[in-house]
Amino acid sequence: MSRADFVVVANRLPVDRVGENEWRPSPGGLVAALEPVMQRADGAWVGWPGQADLELEPFDADGIHLVPIALSEDEVANYYEGMSNDTFWPLYHDVIAEPRYRRVWWDAYVKVNERFAAAAADVAAEGATVWVQDYQLQLVPRMLRERRPDLTIGYFHHIPFPAYGLYSQLPWRKQVLEGLLGADVIGFQRVADASNFARAVRRQLRYPTKSSGITVPAPDGGSRTAIARAFPISIDAEMYEELAQRDDIRARAAEIRESLGNPKTILFGVDRLDYTKGIRHRMKAFGELLEDGRVAVEDVTLVQVASPSRERVDAYQHLRDEIELTVGRINGDYDTMGHTAIRYLHQAFPREEMVALYLAADVMLVTALRDGMNLVAKEYVASRVDNRGVLLLSEFAGAADELTTAVQINPHDIDGMKDAIVRAIEMSPAEQSRRMRALRRKVRDNDVQAWSASFIDALAAARAETQQ
Ligand code: G6P
Repeated sequence: MSRADFVVVANRLPVDRVGENEWRPSPGGLVAALEPVMQRADGAWVGWPGQADLELEPFDADGIHLVPIALSEDEVANYYEGMSNDTFWPLYHDVIAEPRYRRVWWDAYVKVNERFAAAAADVAAEGATVWVQDYQLQLVPRMLRERRPDLTIGYFHHIPFPAYGLYSQLPWRKQVLEGLLGADVIGFQRVADASNFARAVRRQLRYPTKSSGITVPAPDGGSRTAIARAFPISIDAEMYEELAQRDDIRARAAEIRESLGNPKTILFGVDRLDYTKGIRHRMKAFGELLEDGRVAVEDVTLVQVASPSRERVDAYQHLRDEIELTVGRINGDYDTMGHTAIRYLHQAFPREEMVALYLAADVMLVTALRDGMNLVAKEYVASRVDNRGVLLLSEFAGAADELTTAVQINPHDIDGMKDAIVRAIEMSPAEQSRRMRALRRKVRDNDVQAWSASFIDALAAARAETQQ
């Protein structure tokens, strides 16, 4: 193909290779959020195909031009599992797990970021817009600007940006800020993330900041303005609404309830198996409710889908062991022949099955200890076209800024969470409906189309400014 006017650069391609010529949508909120945008824009997507040592020529899938970036075994270990997911991920999620600072990881991170920047520079047409995604590629904006000053460059940070006191642990804190400031627009999930970033820039680089503008020195001795502000990401709400109205999916929801023994209440959690999600905290609360006799196993079942993630990173292996031990203990203590306390599935499911689960779930548990946004919360809301169901939402998820009529909880407060679960179980249909209607309006008015449009508008405005 000729060079593209719109290029997305992300760690993952929107598809993972599962067979010789077989691809399946890759995991995580990012792909789900950008896929609809890309299908309309007719652009190119630069990313890793999800396996080590896979050298592939560019190809087209679902109307998107895909440019695969190969990573060696060592690079997967050092850049992806190491620096991205054992340093940045825990550091940016408020050090819930201990970040490791290893220089070989950093070296690989720099080298792989160079490779992504070079590929994006090759595929972008003169004056194109390039949109870089997430913490795996924080150096790409600057590297790209150095190669291609004609481009308009955006960056979106899907995860939290931590408070300065934590960020400043990072041995490469200046390089990362400089890398991000290569973008014209730097987007964050929450207002608080953008202000944490601006503070780090002031403290570390001494660049002046004024509302969302940051004055960045340019190589010619002048300066330019980079915009850093919040653009809360969302979902394709209409698609979830449509799925939720399909007869086969509604029938499947009834079948799920049936197969669990038709309990009065189904509590539901679905997360990547990640220590940021508070899965242990919610199981602890549920286990104690059973122990206290405030809920009975015949009446209430917790369905927990935990999709496999980053399975070679130590912290994830430990978490899996802990969770599976907890599930085994709770079920061993409380199951009866006909009823199970926790139905645990260490699997990923297609979207249709997820919507059936959302429709079957009376109470959705989003108990993240820290989360950039949490799109599951928004998917649940969009799927509840019947205006029923209760969303329990951690105030530490970005979604809490918008979804204010959810039942908000502090997942560290186990007693508070137990009370909130009981309150949700007992909530009257009228109150469920009142809350759910307000939530649905929020999600529908701020869907992923609105999100990408507002980011792209901000980029266009930034470019117009520069050209002046
Ligand atoms: C989060 C990140 C994404 C990432 C996804 C899945 O949503 O913000 O950048 O792609 O998790 O994680 P993985 O490591 O499998 O790509």
